[in-house]
Amino acid sequence: MKKFMKGLLATTMVFAMMTSLVGCGGGSEAEAPADETETLVMATNAAFPPYEYYEGEEIVGIDAEVGAAIAEKLGMGFEISDMEFDAIIPAVTSGKASFGMAGMTVTEERMQSVDFSDSYAKGVQVVIVTEDSEITDVDHLFAGEDTHVIGVQTGTTGDLYSTWDLEDEGLATVSRFNKGADAVLALTEGKVDCVVIDNEPAKEFVAANAGLKILETAYAEEDYAICFAKDSELTEKVNGALKELIADGTVQKIIDKYISAE
Ligand code: ARG
Repeated sequence: MKKFMKGLLATTMVFAMMTSLVGCGGGSEAEAPADETETLVMATNAAFPPYEYYEGEEIVGIDAEVGAAIAEKLGMGFEISDMEFDAIIPAVTSGKASFGMAGMTVTEERMQSVDFSDSYAKGVQVVIVTEDSEITDVDHLFAGEDTHVIGVQTGTTGDLYSTWDLEDEGLATVSRFNKGADAVLALTEGKVDCVVIDNEPAKEFVAANAGLKILETAYAEEDYAICFAKDSELTEKVNGALKELIADGTVQKIIDKYISAE
């Protein structure tokens, strides 16, 4: 059932073509101070719409655009490096990537190995079930009578929470997939009983697959932020640019472009 995509590392150059969004037609500043890292390399997992996903050959989405806007503001080049989600923090801590941006939730555990920027978006862990599922709310998963199989994307908070809260307590089994979409496919095939995943990709996956719904009760609420190697010099710089892009409404404009208000 599990398809292993062997460490495919697609690298996509995304030029900071954000002129309309940041209101600056000038392109790169020729006199920008030379920096060790002239190009910001953003590690992500581009299987997470609307934050990062492929449109043809190109990686688009909220994080892709905010990352490009940050690079443009700093007068730096920008490149996206696509990898498995659980490879992002190692790529950042080993210096292969300048930062990680992947709808990544700030957690205490991750703060042991990386530093985080200010938060630029909120996420909610939700539960996707089939329309006829006997799982009608999140508490049902904790009821302890049935052992459900929970589909998750490996290394995500959906994985961590359901492992700690449910699998470790003997209340459920967690089935891990390289992509959220693969977990959702397993749900449509009856191989898992539900999927725990972030709300925005959940909405997209439910819209793309007949017979699924999102439970109304949420599993957990979280903050998304950019992660950096501990004590990286880039943290202050990138976070400074992010703060400005939040303050001037650019980040909200990008979010609104990808997420329509209900
Ligand atoms: N918010 C969740 C986490 O940080 C899921 C993020 C998954 N992101 C992705 N690009 N696949 O663990």
